[in-house]
This record gives sequence, structure tokens and C-alpha cells, in this order.
Amino acid sequence: MKFGHFDDKNKEYVIETPCTPSPWINYLGQDHFFSLISNTAGGYSFDTDAKMRRLTRYRYNEVPADMDGRHFYVKEGSLIWSPSYLPVKTPLDSYFCRHGLGYTIISGEKNGLAAEMTFFVPHGESCEIQKIHLTNKSKAKKAFSFFAMEEWCLWNASDDGENFQRNLSTGEVECYNGIIYHKTEFRERRNHYAFYYVNHKTSHFESDRDAFLGMHNGFDHPAQVIEGNLKDGVASGWHPIAAHQIDLELEAGESKDLIFILGYCEIAKGEAKFVAPSVINKRPAEELIEKFNTTEKVDAALAALKKKMYAFLDVYKAETGNEKLDRMANIWNPYQSIITYCMSRSASYYESGIGRGMGFRDSCQDLLGFVHMIPEKARQRIIDIASIQKEDGSTYHQYQPLTKKGNADIGGGFNDDPLWLIGATAAYIKETGDYTILDHPTPFDNKLGSEKPLMEHLRRSVNFTINHKGPHGLPLIGRADWNDCLNLNCFSETPGESFQTTENKGDGKVAESVFIAGMFVKYSQEYAEICTHIGLNDEAKAILKEKKKIEEATIKYGWDGEYFLRAYDARGNKVGSHENKEGQIYIEPQGFCVMAGIGHELGYGKKALKSAEEKLGCKYGLEILAPCYHEYHVELGEISSYPPGYKENGAVFNHNNPWVVIAHCVEGESKEAFDLYTRNAPAFIEDESEIHYTEPYVYSQMIAGHEAKNYGQAKNSWLSGSATWSLVALQEYLLGIRPDFDGLLVDPHLPEEFKHLHITRVYRGNTYDINIDNTAKNPSLYIDGKKVDGRRIPYVKGMGKVSVELK
Ligand code: BGC
Ligand code: NOJ
Repeated sequence: MKFGHFDDKNKEYVIETPCTPSPWINYLGQDHFFSLISNTAGGYSFDTDAKMRRLTRYRYNEVPADMDGRHFYVKEGSLIWSPSYLPVKTPLDSYFCRHGLGYTIISGEKNGLAAEMTFFVPHGESCEIQKIHLTNKSKAKKAFSFFAMEEWCLWNASDDGENFQRNLSTGEVECYNGIIYHKTEFRERRNHYAFYYVNHKTSHFESDRDAFLGMHNGFDHPAQVIEGNLKDGVASGWHPIAAHQIDLELEAGESKDLIFILGYCEIAKGEAKFVAPSVINKRPAEELIEKFNTTEKVDAALAALKKKMYAFLDVYKAETGNEKLDRMANIWNPYQSIITYCMSRSASYYESGIGRGMGFRDSCQDLLGFVHMIPEKARQRIIDIASIQKEDGSTYHQYQPLTKKGNADIGGGFNDDPLWLIGATAAYIKETGDYTILDHPTPFDNKLGSEKPLMEHLRRSVNFTINHKGPHGLPLIGRADWNDCLNLNCFSETPGESFQTTENKGDGKVAESVFIAGMFVKYSQEYAEICTHIGLNDEAKAILKEKKKIEEATIKYGWDGEYFLRAYDARGNKVGSHENKEGQIYIEPQGFCVMAGIGHELGYGKKALKSAEEKLGCKYGLEILAPCYHEYHVELGEISSYPPGYKENGAVFNHNNPWVVIAHCVEGESKEAFDLYTRNAPAFIEDESEIHYTEPYVYSQMIAGHEAKNYGQAKNSWLSGSATWSLVALQEYLLGIRPDFDGLLVDPHLPEEFKHLHITRVYRGNTYDINIDNTAKNPSLYIDGKKVDGRRIPYVKGMGKVSVELK
């Protein structure tokens, strides 16, 4: 069952009912000001840091769900309704929500009055625009009141949700000239405030939530709206809000626009914070308002935003003859990847914005999916990430976007982390050809004076693995590897203790990861290629020797007979082996070791993939492990804490299914690769939206596996490495246009039913117009009509438009 449809022409998903299985959201903003917005206008806004600079309040486990966000009320006589359905829930005569690239349009109509509401964050600005286009579609004149309300968060979202003994006394607002300013803590150490403005005369306002609602009422039933008049209340402590009342009359057929601005302002250093006692300096707010206070200005800003977003997509455009595949390759998967660049894992409807900052491993992987669209930002991101690496090559696991400093509360010790930096840097160089990044002076642990060229960071990354090997010559796992829940050293027995941060037991010198071995083999190869390119031939040779050692150790000790083993635990016992009772096979090493080509000549690749399909395959792809753990295993950690079929204990992880898709391509198994791809790609399973539960236009972290009660139900939508890896699998392996150090590879792997592929790829300033005859056996590559050997288009600067054929 579907709840909407894709509108590919407008690059939108159109939701046709407010009653989706869960709130289906979109993101507004790509720079520093962001909003989350659901199809019923729920969500919240923040600037730069979802924890420290939260503008509006959101309660994650609220009942009913998703009542916080933008609240709009229309009162016509005794009829009260919300154009986005929530919070009032009056049934609408018509409704739709269009989630587009960086904007959302929600339209509701009741009793002949239509409100089309457009939400977006103009590029580079610190505000959310809410344009409300009201039309009287009836045959008679209408008089009604329009109310708009936002609830302020007292900035620090964490404190806001728990430190009530303090924060219920700190709230302050200023209501001036029809604008409500939120200035909590501005008197003391903050140099920022927020405001809510509308470009129309307001009849009344309210800034005190309790007064607005009245005792015992929810947002669906605010006493002042029901009464028909706000009371011009100025909040002092408790719960400050910003509510506006606009009384309107519309003739039959007449339309009117209201522009609301939710803005964030900073006072520049040296500038006065106050212009009179308790009167804040409104200059930045006035300037921002001036930019967007008319329909014309807003429309122009939206047009500019669309242009900018579409330009990202122009970098890679595919026509495959399959509309579902095209919309994933050209619209939704690239868009989700850009959002993961913006958010990492910080703020979604599953990530509270107060828990996780920028992940080292996560951000490195996200980069693989956006580097071709925003290479300049990718460069800075790599430097930021590398700056939280420590001198010994290990890394902090996260940093907060505001400080960019390693997060000491989370710590480190995830032994896969350092290697991802090589993957990310290699991807950046392959895309841009910019080797100067390797010279960039980059600190360790953000310490001034510790700067070394980025290349030294990469070197310490490879050496970290080389210097941390276990009894079988395989990399030690540390706290965990990619699978955060495979905690082989923590032996946690205390209820509630975090598996992610608790003190490890023992010296950690036994538990090894076959997955990290696969990573090392893949990324040490890339490191060696980088060395060769910059003339470090001896170092390249030395690294390749190390690569060989780990490859051999993996073949000898990491192969279980039919597939790759997952790990050795802290007692030296096998994990992910047919010898185990449960958890006999894991997906990660099958994907990564095959991608890395380990044991290819021995036929391990094909064998491992076949076993993976047989033992892990289900309707929605491959489950992460099988059989699921049914008991808690202290020696394995969090993985066995989840009920069977959920999360790391047997769900389909959309993050590592694409590794297997890529592995199939590496092994030349196009049919298997495409088949697996389609089993969890959002556009291909849209028809099952009632089962899938989360948004049908983006990947979720996981889909519950067959042992779970809710088999097929997804969770953790949007912020997941699933976005990046699926995009890499699709654009670079299935469609086969893949950047390499010296040029672009053309190496498609789609089954025979795809006859012809047309792809346009902008690469280092050239535009490659690529036509692929997918029916040709042993095709040859032609560049501007000239046949070349192999599958690489060598990069030549300044060629402009290049015609490429594989036929
Ligand atoms: C989750 C993992 C996640 C980790 C991050 C765990 O509870 O299951 O998916 O990576 O937390 O801290
Ligand atoms: C989500 C985390 O963000 C990611 O870093 C981790 O690799 C996966 N979960 C698997 O545990």
C-alpha cells in the first residue's frame, strides 16, 4: 500500500494523507541553519548544533506523536482547523504534502478556504521561511483568524528537557512591533537570540504557553484560539512561545500571502547587545527580515534554492529505462547523501540531536556519497575529521560541530575508525585530483602546534592497524569495529551501562576482527597507490607487504570453509562460524573481504556471496547475521542485547547490503547484484509502505529481519551510512561510472534486461556523455570516437564535453 507517489519531474515525493504510518519528514537547510519538518509540519529548528543551539522544542516520545513543531490554526466562526492537519486534527477536505529538495509544501483545504504553506531555509541564511498562501475558494466573502505558534526551546536541548528546577525560571522574551524575540540567557553569556515574525499586521500575540493553552489543554485545543483572541501576554519564565494572530477577510476567489520568518541572530563581536536596559539590539533581525518580507523576495529565494539543489544533481544523471532506478540514482539517493553530510547522525526523528555529534567513521563514509557533489566541503570535512585523530593513529569516535573537538565522553577505541580516513581521502583525491590536501597541516587531537601534513595522519592510520594485531595476525577489534554492537572486550554485566563507553576488561590483545582485515586490505591498497602517486615508492612497497600479510592471515584464519569468519573473541573463540550455535555467519566480512578481493583466486569471493545469500537472504536483502542470538552473551556485548531480528541482532542493515552488491559486481555477478539492490531500495519497495513504516523516499538504517515480530518494518530513517553506500553501489558499480586516481572508469554491472544506459557525469571540469550498449558481449570503450584499451577514460584537463561509448 502507498500513501503517496513520486513526482520525478518536480523531484518531489507527494504524500496524499496526513495519516502516514509514522511521521514522514524532510530537511530544510544545507549550511548551518536547519529544520526538520514532517508531513504534518512537526519538527524543530536549530543553528549549527542540534544540542547547544536548538531554537524550537520537540518532545521525542510525545503522545500523541509529532505534535511539536509549526502550529497553525484557522478559526472561521466556531470551526477550527490546521492546514497541516496537526495539531487540531479536524478532517480536511483536501490535503497534500510535497517534500522536495530542501523545501516542503503542505496544503490543506477546509470549507472553501485553502492554505498552501511553503517551508524552506534560504541558502546560507539563518532562518526558516514559512509562506502561507491563503485562497478563498468559496463563492462568498470569508472572515477568519489565522494563528501561528512556535514553542521556544531554551537553547540547550538537553538542559531544556531535564533541568526544570533552573530552566523554568530563565525564559525571557521581548514583544515589539508585532515580532516576538526569544532572548533567554541573552542577558548573560549568549550573544544570540531568535525571533518569529510575520509580514502582516497582527491583531494580538501571546508568548506564554500556559496562557495560550489554558490548563489541561494540548496544542490541539488552545484556549485562546478557541476563544478567538490571544491576550498579548509577555512570558516571564516557564515556557515562552511565539504566537501571532492575524484577522483576515478574503473576498470570494481572493488570495493572500503571509510570510512568517523564524530567525536566528548573532550579535557581532564588539557590537552592543542591548540598545537600552533590557532592550536587545534588533539590527541583525531587522536585516534578516528585510531580505524576506515579501512574496517576491521569498519566491526568488526559493527559486535560487531549487537551482542550487538541482545543480548538485547535474553532476551525475542516469537514464536507464527503469524509472525507479533513475529516481534513486538521480534524485533521492544523492539528496539523502547530502543530508547525511549536513547532519551526520545528529538530528532526525530517531536521533535526538542531543546524543551524537559528528561520527569519525560515519562522516568518513558519508563523504563517499557526497564528494562528487560538494568537493570543497568534502575537503574541509576531511581536515576536521583528521583533526580529532590522536598521535598514535587512534581516534576519538565523534566531535561536536560547534567545537570540532574530540568528544571525550564518548572516547575512542573503535579500531576500524582510522582506516576510514584513508577511504575518505582516497575518494576525495579520485574525484578531484587534488593531492594538495595531503600537505594540509592538520593537528592531532586539535592541539595547536601538533600540526602535521594530512599524509602523516593517513600513515598513522595504516600503522595503527599494523601495530595492533592479535594472535592470528588479524587486526585487534578494540571496543568494536563497524558493528558498534560487537563488543568483544567489554563483558558488561551492569544493567543500563553503555556498551559503547564502558571500560573494557582485559588488555584487548586477543579479540580480532576479520572485518577490519578486509578494510585494511582494501584501504592499504589505496594508501599504497597514493604513495606511488606522490613518489613514495618504497613506502608503497612496504605497505603492500603488510597488506599481503593480513591477506594471508585472513585466508588462513579468517575463512570458515564456505564464507568468511567474523572475529575471534577475547578468549580466542570464533565468532560467525558454522561451529557456533547462533550467529553462525555475519554479513560484514562477506561484503568487505570480497570487495577487497581476498581469496579471489581461491574462489572465496563467489563462495562467500553464495553462502551469504543462502544463509542471510530474505525478502528485504541480507540480514546482518544468522541465526539471531536468543540469549544475552556477555562475551559479545550489545549485539545480543537486542531481541532477535532487530538492529544489529539480525535486521537487514541497509548500510552493508550495498557492500555485498558491490562485492557481486567485483565478482562479475550482475544479476545477483541488481537483485539484491532492488530488495531494499526505497523506490522499489514503495508499494509496501504500510509494512515499511518509514519514508518511502529514503533509506532507513535497518529493516526488521524475519525473526522479528514486525518483519519488514524499518527504523532510523535518513541518517545512516545506508545512503552513501547505496549510492556508491548504484552510481559507481551497477551503473559503473567510477572515479579513479587518473580518470573515470566505465564498468557497468546491470543484468541483460537493461539494454542501453545513458549517463552524464561531470568530472574535474569535463562533462562526459556516456552511452553504454549493455547487450554487447566484451564491449570496447570509445572516447570521442576513438577506441581505447581497457575501461578507463584517462583524465585530460579542459576537454569540455567528452563523448564516451561502451559498445
Ligand atoms: C546502536 C548502533 C549504533 C551505536 C552508536 C547502538 O546502540 O545499536 O547502531 O551505532 O549505538 O552509539
Ligand atoms: C550506526 C552507527 O552510526 C555506525 O557508526 C555503525 O557502524 C552502525 N550503527 C552499525 O553498528
